[in-house]
Amino acid sequence: MRRPIAGTGWKMNNGAADAYRYAAALKQALTGVDVSGIDVFVLPPFTSLHAAGAAFANSPVAIGGQNMHWDDAGGWTGEISAPMLVEAGCRYVELAHSERLQHFGETYPLVRRKVDQAMAAGLVPIICLGETAAEKAAGRADEVLSEQVLTSLAGQPIERTADVVLAYEPRWAIGAADAASPEYVAARHAALRRILREHRGENAALETRILYGGSVTPENGKELIEIEDVDGLFVGRAAWKAEGFARIVKIVSEAASRKKSF
Ligand code: 13P
Repeated sequence: MRRPIAGTGWKMNNGAADAYRYAAALKQALTGVDVSGIDVFVLPPFTSLHAAGAAFANSPVAIGGQNMHWDDAGGWTGEISAPMLVEAGCRYVELAHSERLQHFGETYPLVRRKVDQAMAAGLVPIICLGETAAEKAAGRADEVLSEQVLTSLAGQPIERTADVVLAYEPRWAIGAADAASPEYVAARHAALRRILREHRGENAALETRILYGGSVTPENGKELIEIEDVDGLFVGRAAWKAEGFARIVKIVSEAASRKKSF
């Protein structure tokens, strides 16, 4: 029903030469692993997109951008547009990563414009959602998630909801020592599905894929992917080397054949 996903954002790591090395090592590490039941993505920095696209050509690994602008073209120094990502071979674009919100002042009304632009260009937006430590402490996590997801999707018709990928990434668990606990993740993912059901209908709730990200490792990944409403793992540090990502891809592929919700 929901095809599982293993994905990694390289953040500001892995230049073009590293992208070639990474792709070769990943293919090698995944020899004999059946990934036909899952989607796999890698989000390189912009300057590595071309190399990654070439290196992953004719492989099950799709590439995507880590951010984009809401306009097609124009006087926006330092920015990259959706059509440029498409031309570079991207299938995905990550939006609203917490590092974009925290360090570059992005907001969800802006994310909404980017979602609309990405969808119009035929990209799959990976929309990051997550509460801060202070919001968690105040018991406001689900309220924050609701506001974030509904704002991001506000420009999209109900029937297109499941064309996006959501990524629950609690902001306090990104780049941290530990992931959120499985119980906590299960509760937030269930809340997100309730929010989708209430505001975007039953199909959206059943079909939209929700990834977990934030200090995922090959060690904790097994337990996280078993959670009913977790449809994939979105990994930073533990997948910046191909061998680490290969272990995550294997975990998700193995879980895919077991999980009823998929
Ligand atoms: P870490 O896995 O390094 O915590 O990063 C997660 C992340 O930012 C995924 O988008």
